[in-house]
Amino acid sequence: MTMHGLFISFEGIDGAGKSTHIAGLADTFRAQGRAVTLTREPGGTPLAEKLRAMVLGDPMDPLTEALLIFAARRDHLVRVIAPALVRGDVVLCDRFTDATFAYQGAGRGFDLNVLSTLEQWVQSDEGLLGDPAGNSPMKPEVETVIEPHLTVWFDLPPEEAAVRLQGARVPDKFEAQPLAFFRRVAQGYADRQQGHPERFARIDASQTREAVWQAVRQVFVAKGWLP
Ligand code: TYD
Repeated sequence: MTMHGLFISFEGIDGAGKSTHIAGLADTFRAQGRAVTLTREPGGTPLAEKLRAMVLGDPMDPLTEALLIFAARRDHLVRVIAPALVRGDVVLCDRFTDATFAYQGAGRGFDLNVLSTLEQWVQSDEGLLGDPAGNSPMKPEVETVIEPHLTVWFDLPPEEAAVRLQGARVPDKFEAQPLAFFRRVAQGYADRQQGHPERFARIDASQTREAVWQAVRQVFVAKGWLP
């Protein structure tokens, strides 16, 4: 079983405005006749959505937070992402592991080496394509670590994001963080891009919504994924 679908993640600090563009891409791919799996992290499965509610709502220490996020990610990979990639879907995922490096790593100051170990461990394709209950885990011939083919990073200065978020809604645990936290998170994303330049596409999210959409579309056209 090969995973011949497309796995695309979307990242950025809170307020960067990725949601409408993710929805727009889903419509565009569907109009091309592609099957789309639209999902998000933390979350995307019933179990992972429960973990999301805990992570976004309850105070906890950084290790607990990182472990819950990676537990949610594993369930999401096993039950939703891997099967969708095997079917050949376009998987559009609102946030993935880069968010953990940016928020838990850069934002909270959690050990990046531990996050890398968890990343290798949780995103290994070993056991991913068996029965999701783990009764008949499949052992691949060569173990690989699943990661997005492309990560669209909506880059917005934290000061601008703060203005956009003002009064938008009741803030969750992360949205309620001070500007200094988002400055670190933004730097965390920049560092991740530096480490994975071939995977990242940076979008200047301070432009008008229409200009951002055109920039996003252009990334997919350049890849040959959209006409
Ligand atoms: P977000 O994706 O912004 O969803 P919504 O638009 O519904 O608020 O919210 C998810 C929050 O979770 C966001 O503040 C970032 C945070 N987060 C982490 O801290 N670590 C992670 O690994 C992920 C995926 C998200």
